[in-house]
Amino acid sequence: MEFYIAHRSAAEGEEPLAAVFLFEGEKVLPRAAAALDGTVGGLVSRAREEGEFTGKARETCLLHNASPKGPRRVLLVGLGREADFTADGFRRASGAAGLAARSARVGELAAVLPESDRVPREDLAAAFVEGTTLAVYEFRRHKTGEAAEDRHPLEKVVVVEESRKARAGLDRGIALGRMLAEAGAWARDVGNTPGNEGTPTFLAERAKEIADESGMKLTVYDRAAMEKEGMGGILGVARGTEEPPKFIVLEHNAGKKDLPCFALVGKGITFDSGGISIKPAENMHEMKFDKCGGVAVLATLRAAGRLKIPLRIVGIVPATENLPSGRAYKPGDVVRTLGGKTVEVLNTDAEGRMILVDGISYAKRYKPKAIVDLATLTGACVVALGDAASGLFSTDEDLAASLLAAGDASGERSWRMPLFADYTEQIRSDVADFKNTGGRSAGACTAAALLQAHAEGTPWAHLDIAGTAWTQRDRDYLRKGATGVGPRTLLRWLLAEAEGAGGRRGTKG
Ligand code: BES
Ligand code: MN
Ligand code: ZN
Repeated sequence: MEFYIAHRSAAEGEEPLAAVFLFEGEKVLPRAAAALDGTVGGLVSRAREEGEFTGKARETCLLHNASPKGPRRVLLVGLGREADFTADGFRRASGAAGLAARSARVGELAAVLPESDRVPREDLAAAFVEGTTLAVYEFRRHKTGEAAEDRHPLEKVVVVEESRKARAGLDRGIALGRMLAEAGAWARDVGNTPGNEGTPTFLAERAKEIADESGMKLTVYDRAAMEKEGMGGILGVARGTEEPPKFIVLEHNAGKKDLPCFALVGKGITFDSGGISIKPAENMHEMKFDKCGGVAVLATLRAAGRLKIPLRIVGIVPATENLPSGRAYKPGDVVRTLGGKTVEVLNTDAEGRMILVDGISYAKRYKPKAIVDLATLTGACVVALGDAASGLFSTDEDLAASLLAAGDASGERSWRMPLFADYTEQIRSDVADFKNTGGRSAGACTAAALLQAHAEGTPWAHLDIAGTAWTQRDRDYLRKGATGVGPRTLLRWLLAEAEGAGGRRGTKG
């Protein structure tokens, strides 16, 4: 999908469909909508008068224009009440517009963005591009025949805006929105890749493509190299699989030691059967999404390279399958992590934390300003927050605040969770420094506590994306399957850091 800006009215172009966004309870039509309404013979005001369209959030109404003037069809899209308007509300409405335009089978669309003092023009433009692009996303790679392609793709979207004053903001917003939407779609593609194809080797190959494209430094540790380093956590988990594990390290601006450095660590379990503590068969297939934290990190690095973000960014993805076998790690085993701590394995299904602690310890070698990890870590987090928010754990108030703000601006909400010392006590082991589970209570928090113990000394945040990384139903601009959560938030956060604003400017939703 390509986006353009045109300084004219929606009535003047060649596009067969014009989309107009309208608030609920708006007495008079905004100027641009009124002009279009005049050209198409009052279709828009009639739909409002007759109550066919009320402007409720994400309501859509497709009108056919019988007059020879103006676009053949007009799409009205509801925004809800102006008093409740946010960038993400507009992202979701834009998603509804994208889907409606695709159903209308038009290749081109003209869109009139709404006027509101609540959201800057630039943020509106970015949200519009993200919403439309991500809503019509589909994962078709394994379809054959007719289903393999979109036969009526929406190819061209023209944002019409008569005033030239807004041009610079619109340009910037569209450019950012494209980059973010692209990162999200890439994360969905890799996230949706099934376990037989989306192996640790596959992730390493994607990392190689990113490194080659942007001249990044790439180091991939194989099993033997991990042994040399002493990465006992990932090696323990990887014992049960014949699929070669990979510990992937991708560095953006590697040589530039004077730039502030940030480390991202992502859980790359390409399939989680639970191992010897095997999971029930029902829904086990969903555990192909257990790599989505790692995928989010790769997607972020890929976009950071394309955007040339002036920061040093290290992406670390420990990647392996978690399978049972005659050589698999077992309950009761004790392993020594890269950080030199010992962990008793009580449940082989608590494998994410085992590989992440090696990633976090490795990240400390860079003395980064902050380490942020993302992981589909616990079912307990899904119980606590559902798919409404990721769980955010952090030892640093500023870091937590900027990640929350970036998440809100991206429509990827996080909710702060506690790191009480009680949770660390709960995972003390009788025979080792820690055990890898703390029992049923506070499952998301005790998992975080083991990570915290390894991050000690460096500002650190952990996003438990178990509930947000995939969805079983279509939701606004999310499609069934991998949601691509992470990169849009991380990129907004990193861009704010690069601006030197500490994450509190330009990220407000
Ligand atoms: N990948 C799972 C977490 C998960 C579960 C994500 C359900 C999404 C939906 C993780 O590796 C896991 O199995 N965690 C266990 C930990 C337990 C054994 C302490 C869990 O949450 O049940
Ligand atoms: Mn598991
Ligand atoms: Zn897992």
